[in-house]
Parts: sequence; C-alpha cells; structure tokens
Amino acid sequence: MAIKQDKPDRTAWLKGGKAQCEVVPAGVTRPRRLVLLGAPGVGKGTQAELLSERLGACHLSTGDVFRAAKMLDECERTPAMAQALDYMRRGELVPDETVLGLVTEREGCFRCQGGFLLDGFPRTVAQAEALEKLLAGQGVKLEAVLSYELPLEKIVARLSGRRTCSVCKAVFHIEARPPKVDGVCDHCGAGLYQREDDRPESIRVRMDAYAKSTSPLAEFYRRQGILVPVLAEGTPEEIFERTLVAMQHR
Ligand code: AP5
Repeated sequence: MAIKQDKPDRTAWLKGGKAQCEVVPAGVTRPRRLVLLGAPGVGKGTQAELLSERLGACHLSTGDVFRAAKMLDECERTPAMAQALDYMRRGELVPDETVLGLVTEREGCFRCQGGFLLDGFPRTVAQAEALEKLLAGQGVKLEAVLSYELPLEKIVARLSGRRTCSVCKAVFHIEARPPKVDGVCDHCGAGLYQREDDRPESIRVRMDAYAKSTSPLAEFYRRQGILVPVLAEGTPEEIFERTLVAMQHR
C-alpha cells in the first residue's frame, strides 16, 4: 500500500517498466506541471529539488534515469541504454528515439497526483512535440516552462564544483552548497561523487549541444505563451523565491 509522505519518491520514474512509487505526495491541492529549461549546470536540478519540496510535485529528470541505468549490471542494460550512456559520457545528446522510448515507458508519471517538474526533457523541438502528444494522451497540460538564464562562465564554475549523491541524487556544490560532512549526503548519508560528464572536455560538448538543439525550445514555448524567464544569479534560495514570484506574475 502507498505510504503518505511529504517528499515524493521517484521509483516509477527512475526504474520504469511496472515500477510503482511507494509514497504518494500529501497535501497537494493543485498539481503543478512545469518544465525547467536552461543550459547544463545553470541549476535546474537544484531548483527542482526546492520546488518539489514546496509544491509537492515529483522531480522527473531524464539525466537521472540514465545515471540510474549506469548503476545496473552490464547484462541488465538494454543495447539502447548502453548506447545512450556512451553519448552521455561524451556530453552529446542521446538520440531522440531512445529518450522518447524511455519517457513513453514512464508516461503514467505525468498523471502523478502531486504534479511534475520535468528537468532535462524536452531538449529538442522534436522531443517537445512528442511531449505535447504524450500529455494530451494522459489528459493533462503544461502550466509553464521556467527558463533559467546565466552567463556561460558562471555556469562552468557551478558544474566543476558539483557533487551528487550516489543514492538519492541530491545535488551539492563544494563552495556554494557544501554538504555538512565532506563527501557525505545530508539527506541519506550516502557517498557523493563527481559526474563523469563534468570534465572540461564534456562540458564543452554539452554547451554546444545546448546552443544548437535546446535553446530553440525557448522560442517554441514563448510562441505558446507559457515561457517564464528567470534570472539564475544569486543563491539557490534567492533564485527559488524569484521563480515563485515569476510564476505568480505570468
Ligand atoms: P542532465 O542530467 O539533464 O544534465 P544537464 O542538463 O546537463 O544539467 P545538469 O544536471 O548538468 O545541471 P543543472 O542545470 O541541473 O544544475 P544543478 O542543479 O546540478 O543530462 C545529462 C546528459 O544526459 C546530457 O548531456 C545528455 O547526454 C543526456 N540527456 C538527458 N536528458 C536528455 C534528453 N532529453 N535528450 C537527450 N539527451 C539527454 O547545479 C549545478 C551545480 O551548481 C551544482 O553543484 C549546484 O549545487 C550548483 N548550484 C546550483 N545553483 C547554484 C547557485 N545559485 N549558486 C551557486 N551554485 C549553484
């Protein structure tokens, strides 16, 4: 039986297939359905965590799904997933077909009664068009697309200091958001690690992929009237407050 708890778990999203979440978000009066857009390292995952705590919506990151697949034994990975991990390691975008297969397997998550925060998907116009169809099939619509904006050199500094929890995927920064104990997650006590694609050569490839494939998405959503630009300068808490204000004023 599902347990009521404040923090949504992401079992169905991270595992896919027939997996089901064990906890359902409590006290959500209106499910919020948002996309977080922005360059790699701008702070989407950090804002998604804060928004998830406040709004009760489930944080759905395609990058987290790929990283969860990396933890599987090699024989448990499908050939498409093994190929996706190679793209990711190099900092390139995973082909749309693979990403869409993975998201379609998890389309039930779009009906989550707590709502959702999509982080890292869609990343191309083709993915955005496919998402529209998936959402229509589930009878739900996007409320807003939060577009986080920051100059490139500040983004690179954020990426190189990032540390991620190997179990609950919480994100820290060695200077801006350090864990209480060096190398240990504040939330679950597991070890922190540095992502393979945060090496300088992969960062460069990721930024190029963003400029070419993902930044046209801002125009796609602006035309639909649901784009909400948010300046990503300042502390995570300041940006979070700015996000809440921007959502009220749209
Ligand atoms: P993904 O996991 O989605 O990564 P990303 O978009 O590159 O974004 P990041 O997770 O790197 O950054 P973020 O914006 O979430 O920043 P964070 O909050 O961590 O994708 C990884 C790869 O998977 C892709 O390259 C691709 O290969 C593949 N992939 C995934 N989805 C795909 C798709 N749909 N299509 C194709 N391929 C796909 O913050 C960064 C750091 O900064 C942290 O250390 C944080 O603590 C710190 N920080 C955050 N906010 C602040 C602040 N205000 N001040 C100072 N430091 C801060």
